[in-house]
Amino acid sequence: MRPPIGQVEGKKQAVEQMFDTIAPRYDLLNRVLSMGIDQGWRRRVVALLSEDKPRKILDVATGTADLALASMRLQPEHITGVDIAEGMLEMGRKKIAALDLSDKITLQRGDSENLPFEDNRFDAVTVAFGVRNFENLYAGLSEMRRVLRPGGKLVVLEFSKPSHFPVKQLYSFYFRQVLPRVGSTVSGVSGPYQYLNESAMAFPDGKDFLAELTKAGYRTVTAEPQTFGIATIYTAIK
Ligand SMILES: C[S@@+](CC[C@H](N)C(=O)[O-])C[C@H]1O[C@@H](n2cnc3c(N)ncnc32)[C@H](O)[C@@H]1O
Repeated sequence: MRPPIGQVEGKKQAVEQMFDTIAPRYDLLNRVLSMGIDQGWRRRVVALLSEDKPRKILDVATGTADLALASMRLQPEHITGVDIAEGMLEMGRKKIAALDLSDKITLQRGDSENLPFEDNRFDAVTVAFGVRNFENLYAGLSEMRRVLRPGGKLVVLEFSKPSHFPVKQLYSFYFRQVLPRVGSTVSGVSGPYQYLNESAMAFPDGKDFLAELTKAGYRTVTAEPQTFGIATIYTAIK
């Protein structure tokens, strides 16, 4: 059960199935494998929205709602999270209920390539570690633009490939050798962490991703590498 790499038909169902399977252990694996760095990156995404003061936020590929929860710092009116994997959403709903935030954050099943919202509905759209999994990247980016209000901001957090010695070599070793082994031991399944490595390597990062954003109609696109370029945060305006 390993989804295909790149933009291939049938990827969506395979991705959904994979995330439903790992959902109960997703948060634990995230913290262990990234040594907690991932939460710092999510906080940076939120900081990049602080000046915009968005009232209505959409978190695409919300998973277990970590970014939606972090975005509560912005004191928005409402946050909506969408994801194709119901198992991930279930875990997210439990976290939201435990924090008594169910009236502020709503999670619903939805496909980023066919979002169930009217045009111009949100002040900001966020997506963390989601775009790499889309079956059709252009469709996903265009849909997120459609539901953003004019002048609204998209913020994307995604893995990228560090290009400098020795981080490039260390990262490659960690991603290829350590991560799939630890991932399969803790999760009990071998596919997902092999997929994580391969999909991150194949993903168009940096300038290539900025070109994808521009192609989908965004303006003022920026890329801010995080932690030696292991991840990058992109911003784009509708
Ligand atoms: C690596 S997880 C990231 C979850 C969360 N954003 C986070 O930061 O932890 C990727 C998520 O993307 C979701 N996903 C993949 N393709 C999707 C699509 N086409 N529409 C909506 N969600 C999708 C998966 O179900 C999964 O929950």
